Amino acid sequence: MSPQAPQPSAELLAEPMRSRWSASVYDASHRLSDAEVETLLHAAQWAPSAGNSQPWIFFVCVPGTANHDRLVANLSRGNSGWVPRASVVFVTAAHVRSGEEDDAPAFSDYALHDVGQAAAHLTLQAHAMGLLTHQFAGFDHDALARALDVPATHQLLTGIAVGLPGDPADVDERTAARDHRDRVRKPLAEWAFGGVFGEAEVADSQA
Ligand SMILES: Cc1cc2nc3c(=O)[nH]c(=O)nc-3n(C[C@H](O)[C@H](O)[C@H](O)COP(=O)(O)O)c2cc1C
Repeated sequence: MSPQAPQPSAELLAEPMRSRWSASVYDASHRLSDAEVETLLHAAQWAPSAGNSQPWIFFVCVPGTANHDRLVANLSRGNSGWVPRASVVFVTAAHVRSGEEDDAPAFSDYALHDVGQAAAHLTLQAHAMGLLTHQFAGFDHDALARALDVPATHQLLTGIAVGLPGDPADVDERTAARDHRDRVRKPLAEWAFGGVFGEAEVADSQA
């Protein structure tokens, strides 16, 4: 069973939102099939986007491949203990500018929104397939963008680690403890406004 039971106020959500959480202990011996990886990418592919602009790029980083080596070499210290054990890691980028020049017009005003949404769809598809996920941004973006040949029209954004739960005994104590951290959220009153900005009129049974 997952070390993270659904939290109060998540209990009424539909699956897989209800059970999603960011796991850090992965089974390093598990690999996804090519078909499973493709299904995850199809989830991102069918996300909505402004004007159907689909401004996303997903780099696929499977352990043992050059892309995985490129990613692992550029992880932050905090992420280097757990990310490499995931079965696959996707690294996202957004098509932000229509030309390479500094003053080139935006490709889409909503590119970052759309890539985030595609990442969310992939994440939820993974949980629906019985997998765990953990999104992260702790890596050297400039160095990884260079290593992946990302053109100036695109902005490297985040990673999404996907895999199966591992044995906490196989990782260091700090990594194992990450899976038992409290998951907390701001109350709705701080960010759901029924009136003008700051005017919380939305009922929050948890407040
Ligand atoms: C854009 C983004 C960047 C994140 N960066 C990191 C990271 O570098 N390292 C990490 O361990 N977790 C990272 N996280 C995971 C968040 O800390 C986590 O989603 C948040 O604490 C909520 O926990 P939950 O996903 O279990 O609900 C990131 C999440 C997002 C969406």
